Amino acid sequence: MANEWWRSAVIYQIYPRSFKSSSGPVGDLAGITSKLPYLKSLGVDAVWISPFYPSPQKDHGYDVSDYRGIDPLFGSLKDADEMIAKATELGIKIIVDLVPNHTSDQHPWFQEAISSPDSPYRDLYWFRDGRGENGEIPPTDWTSVFGGPAWTRVADGQWYLHLFDSSQPDLDWDNQVVRTEFESILRFWLERGVAGFRVDVAHGLIKDRSLPDWQFHWDMVSGRDQTDIPPAPMWDRDQVHEIYRDWRKIVDSYGGMLCAEAWVTDDARRSLYVREDEFHQCFNFSFLASPWEPDAMREVIDLSYEVNGGVGAPTTWVLSNHDVVRVASRMGLEKTGKGPNGIYATDPQPNFELGSKRARAAQLLMLALPGSAYIYNGEELGLPEHTSLPDEARQDPTFRRTKGEEAGRDGCRIPLPWDSTKPGAGFSPTGDTWLPQPDGWERFAVDVQESDPNSTLAFFRKALALRPELELGTSTIEDHSEGSVLDYRVGDVRVLTCFNDEAPVPSGWRVLLSSSPISNTIGADTTVWLTQES
Ligand code: NOJ
Repeated sequence: MANEWWRSAVIYQIYPRSFKSSSGPVGDLAGITSKLPYLKSLGVDAVWISPFYPSPQKDHGYDVSDYRGIDPLFGSLKDADEMIAKATELGIKIIVDLVPNHTSDQHPWFQEAISSPDSPYRDLYWFRDGRGENGEIPPTDWTSVFGGPAWTRVADGQWYLHLFDSSQPDLDWDNQVVRTEFESILRFWLERGVAGFRVDVAHGLIKDRSLPDWQFHWDMVSGRDQTDIPPAPMWDRDQVHEIYRDWRKIVDSYGGMLCAEAWVTDDARRSLYVREDEFHQCFNFSFLASPWEPDAMREVIDLSYEVNGGVGAPTTWVLSNHDVVRVASRMGLEKTGKGPNGIYATDPQPNFELGSKRARAAQLLMLALPGSAYIYNGEELGLPEHTSLPDEARQDPTFRRTKGEEAGRDGCRIPLPWDSTKPGAGFSPTGDTWLPQPDGWERFAVDVQESDPNSTLAFFRKALALRPELELGTSTIEDHSEGSVLDYRVGDVRVLTCFNDEAPVPSGWRVLLSSSPISNTIGADTTVWLTQES
């Protein structure tokens, strides 16, 4: 177990466009390097950085045109090396994002593929003739996760598949050339010193080659129960696991780790991704998407241990990322759970005070649970969703592809506030930010929170310092919950979470940390960590 750091690690997700800029309106690698000491003081073990590779940025880096470089927007390979070296010096591991399901349409393979109808590069993607008399009907009725059809026609009449934006053509993973290329990409980054990979859309790589029609929609991050729809010809196919068994051997030979992003609602099927010869981790989106209700939370937690325990894997907790409404806002909506894809100013607005209180309670619960936990940049500052972005500012392709039906994910990607005294809250030297920050953003800035012992940042620092001391990530857990209060023993620590009801601080127990101020009573929407009085 000695080297299995990932089993209990706290991992901080950096969305590079929005974390910190050393140059212009978009964040960059030098900005990340400059804030590594901040992350050290926060107490995280590792960072996962969303894609920084050369990319036309149609889906902000999840459209990769060169898997072995750095987009000039973010810096250079030299900057990446410096970042990795500095992180290593500070004892922080770097996990990079791998996007194997699709490339950018600007990737040389796809450019070759569209250069001629006979190009052998078409075999690396899903090019097919259309249906109908003149091939004018797409090969299947599949829809893109981002809205609209999943097929786009090229000038010579064939169609290509893209489960996301038309700028993101899907690769054919039955083709050995694709497999060999990605194994080489894994080695490239492992040689550069990264500790592992977060794998994008890990459940999407294999498609049913007979391409049957399937008119259902697969949700991003998956909050909805999708077990009632027929098995999908493109999602969570059994054969996808072979790929990860091959990767695991490579990654293990470098002592690295793999984390799957797999939107699979059936918890038992999701646990297949973390069998001992596959991924080390798989995001627990059932936890993220759970309504803030005691029975629902308890069920998710218990079931997660049950299914992952069955394959000997830890659980990987997460409450926020760059694809969902920020947790402090999501928890303040009338209906809690996965939430909508973005919030408009004309939509019912989240109750920020309530949402923040619940978010802290959920975070303190998450950080007590044995296993690993991910924190999304800005979550430690209690940042809310930007809910009044003007439409002209929106950049997420889901906004365009759903014709505005969904506001999209820009609201959770606002450049972080560092210094309340500077323009753009100190995000960039010039004060420019690629998305506008909402009014009053500077009140969340790091400098403001560092001088307030009751700030969310101070709360996170305390929790992250205590977590290893109390061995919470690695202990065993017992569920003693009764009624509407969650009551767990994690090693010697007692963890109580109140939802709607209050509860007295149990006698014989002393409070170590609470998510909201408490007296003798633990109030609603509050988690406490307790230790037995000696
Ligand atoms: C999941 C990523 O988290 C999301 O941001 C991206 O748009 C899709 N995969 C497509 O790559």
